[in-house]
Amino acid sequence: MLRYFFAIFILVAGGVLALAGFRGQKAGLPPIEIFPDMKHQPKVQPQHASKFFADGSGARKPVAGTIPQGYNLLGRYFQVSARNVGSEKGGFTNEPNYYNTGRMGEVYGDGFPLPVNAGFLARGEERFNINCAICHGKTGAGNGVVQQIGSWATVANLLDDRIRSMPDGQIFHTVTNGKNTMGAYGPQIAVEDRWAIVAHIRALQRSQNGKVEDLTAEQKNALENEKK
Ligand code: HEC
Repeated sequence: MLRYFFAIFILVAGGVLALAGFRGQKAGLPPIEIFPDMKHQPKVQPQHASKFFADGSGARKPVAGTIPQGYNLLGRYFQVSARNVGSEKGGFTNEPNYYNTGRMGEVYGDGFPLPVNAGFLARGEERFNINCAICHGKTGAGNGVVQQIGSWATVANLLDDRIRSMPDGQIFHTVTNGKNTMGAYGPQIAVEDRWAIVAHIRALQRSQNGKVEDLTAEQKNALENEKK
């Protein structure tokens, strides 16, 4: 019995060796792929030809109207948004001053380095809804879509007293550099827009903390009448 086993073993080993060759041996033929897994997939490779597209090229041109994001191409900076047209470096500046860092030396500063008006707040609302609402929710209550589908354990509630009492510069710093599990948005959002977002957060916090005393006499009357 054992004799047959050895005979078959030697035959099989010899067969494998004849087919596959020694380990490390150079072969002129393409390797035999018993389990090719996902080595060969129908996919587009940017610098290769492709039969998929009519023009025979794998590389695609950017969609018409695509705006490059603040980098230096051919010696000139491109603008990120209409708001930043003509501004230095497309609005991505990084000199170590309050405007760019939210810090005054070792401490966070408070106050806005730009005039806060209706246009600025509208811009902040728009940028917040694009960049932050997915996690923090449109009201800032920390209940955005990622929270609702349960993919993130804790997203900060921006209406918290802790964040309400934070200096503006500290919130700006968080947006710029991220905090714990939150990523940095400095590379994506121009400096001016980051400040506009902070202003919008202040508006959200204020709107969630309205008091009867904030109303005008007329509004108070209207409220009283409503109650009756
Ligand atoms: C991908 C999800 C996500 C997005 C998008 C996001 N955040 Fe956050 N953010 C978080 C999480 C998570 C935390 C809590 C981090 C922690 O554990 O301290 C947080 C915390 C914060 C805090 C509190 C920081 C502190 O000091 O405790 C602020 C302020 C904040 N985010 C502002 C923003 C603003 C403004 C934007 C948009 C520019 C934004 N976040 C976008 C997930 C996100």
